[in-house]
Amino acid sequence: MASTCNRCYVLMVLGIVVISSMVASCGANLLQDFDLTWGDNRAKIFNKGQLLSLSLDKASGSGFQSKKEYLFGRIDMQLKLVSGNSAGTVTAYYLSSQGPTHDEIDFEFLGNVSGDPYILHTNVFSQGKGNREQQFYLWFDPTRNFHTYSIIWKPQHIIFLVDNIPIRVFKNAESVGVPFPKNQPMRIYSSLWSADDWATRGGLVKTDWSKAPFIAYYRNFKATEFSSISSNSLSDEAVQSNEIDANGRRRLRWVQKYFMIYNYCKDLKRFPQGLPAEC
Ligand SMILES: *[C@@H]1O[C@H](CO)[C@@H](O)[C@H](O)[C@H]1NC(C)=O
Repeated sequence: MASTCNRCYVLMVLGIVVISSMVASCGANLLQDFDLTWGDNRAKIFNKGQLLSLSLDKASGSGFQSKKEYLFGRIDMQLKLVSGNSAGTVTAYYLSSQGPTHDEIDFEFLGNVSGDPYILHTNVFSQGKGNREQQFYLWFDPTRNFHTYSIIWKPQHIIFLVDNIPIRVFKNAESVGVPFPKNQPMRIYSSLWSADDWATRGGLVKTDWSKAPFIAYYRNFKATEFSSISSNSLSDEAVQSNEIDANGRRRLRWVQKYFMIYNYCKDLKRFPQGLPAEC
């Protein structure tokens, strides 16, 4: 009798371990983590919280935001962007705090006519000031499949990653007087709207509304908060695993060499008085 129960117990524990690892690998439930904030029924969560979509038509775009605020962490989300003729559409996916001196960490995907490349636009605002754009082409078609876009936000730096490849590092340069986002918690936001006055080829190509609705998809959201880890353990594993190793640095150089199409730090025309201090 006792041995049967022991066996039951072992099976039960095994079952719990298997189930909990399954839950972890399925990704969080989007219904629990996000609110659909505008665009009426153009924003949707379906497949029992596994998939979210935003849609845009001539009358309106749509958007969502996280229920929680984060202060440092790693945020991963998979996106599949508007396919076909997406010219003039902008899919913004970003972290932001509130107020006039807000901080912000931005991914913006600028659509294009069929077959022409999206631009991935990035920016960092600290205490209300941005003007730190870097833009990239992607090395894949972001409308065919889901790809993972991540932000690692630590007191030391902000890293933008695409499919786990670092594309941009914004270092904390407070030592030379550049404010760094580190005091204001941020929410995650995303929205899909039309900005055909500037988005595609600088505004030359307009949105073709006969192709509406335009739809972008999101799944597999994951947030790892560093703030929830005690400051002691901040120095070890969780943080180490988010540092860029030699391979990561090589890939960062590869992206910056072959795919970066704009870097504010190289734009002498824009900053005739001298480049920003962090450059
Ligand atoms: C769209 O395609 C044109 C032509 O290839 C390219 O110059 C432009 O950078 C692309 N992306 C956007 C968002 O304009």
